[in-house]
Amino acid sequence: MNQPPYRVLLLGANGQLGFELAIALKALGEVRALTRNEADLSNAFALRDNLLPVVKKFQPHVIVNAAAYTAVDKAQTEQTIALQVNAQSVGVLAELAQSANAVLVHYSTDYVFDGAGDKPWAEEDDAPNPLSAYGQSKWLGECAVRQHCRKHLILRTSWVVGAHGNNFLKTMLRLAAERDSLRVVADQIGVPTSTDLLAKVTVDILQTMLPAAKDDARFGTYHLAAAGETSWHAYAQYVVANALKRGAHLSCKPESIEPIPTSAYPLPAPRPANSRLNTEKIRSNFGIKLPAWQAGVDAILDALI
Ligand SMILES: NC(=O)c1ccc[n+]([C@@H]2O[C@H](COP(=O)([O-])OP(=O)(O)OC[C@H]3O[C@@H](n4cnc5c(N)ncnc54)[C@H](OP(=O)(O)O)[C@@H]3O)[C@@H](O)[C@H]2O)c1
Repeated sequence: MNQPPYRVLLLGANGQLGFELAIALKALGEVRALTRNEADLSNAFALRDNLLPVVKKFQPHVIVNAAAYTAVDKAQTEQTIALQVNAQSVGVLAELAQSANAVLVHYSTDYVFDGAGDKPWAEEDDAPNPLSAYGQSKWLGECAVRQHCRKHLILRTSWVVGAHGNNFLKTMLRLAAERDSLRVVADQIGVPTSTDLLAKVTVDILQTMLPAAKDDARFGTYHLAAAGETSWHAYAQYVVANALKRGAHLSCKPESIEPIPTSAYPLPAPRPANSRLNTEKIRSNFGIKLPAWQAGVDAILDALI
């Protein structure tokens, strides 16, 4: 590495993405990885009191926030806590990063968009319009980051999947082992994005942006997702077919997964039908190549089976 070793403060180290980041960020230098026990985001005031001495002592060059309230359906009835974790506390992290002259990396979601149409959403051209309480809390978190921290990188991603933690892929493997048929929504389109890809791209971008001046125009908001697109239904079929190829014992075959409309599977929180993210900005600003989503899923199946 040509650059000096950096100090990295990571929050949410036990989550799907946080787990992968705790490993990948070591490429930048010293990582202080905090879990919910060490940094609870459910009370923004307590978080400030708790983290201020940590930030003063550790003097991070970058704060990476992988912690979030991610229970999309529960958030509909737990809006206060979702807002604390995803917005108010994120504002505190932004203020702390600004006061330490640190970069803040924060992750957001395709759920800030309303899912209309079929064009991939672009950062500058398309206005968020969240459908759910979770999406609204994530959008307000983004606003707090922009308001309080100049050197920010907001990375909006979609359909996060990793070997660690809970996700759609693991749910499909479990259900396909228990049942001989499944019904999966086919009219929501998006891109499964692996935690491995998210962590690697985060490190790559930070290698460029940590030495950058605070008024560097490349700070800002980016869409980061794997290449391609799919529906939850086609994704489930891909997972089951490729798990079977690897020798997994599943009762359900890909052809026994029935495509259904969203209306046939009602959930408390509405989801965007179109979750496609336009990734042109991140690819051109940082010269990053994004692999097809299947590559990330294959690597996770290799790790799990
Ligand atoms: N999952 C997706 O499909 C998806 C899609 C688009 C964007 N994103 C965004 O990507 C980021 C990472 O998501 P993920 O999938 O890695 O989420 P995850 O697996 O649910 O992990 C979230 C982490 O946040 C922690 N957390 C929750 N409430 C907390 C609190 N009050 N105080 C401190 N920590 C708390 C959790 O702690 P515990 O381990 O103790 O529960 C967990 O470690 C988030 O910003 C999310 O909004 C996710």
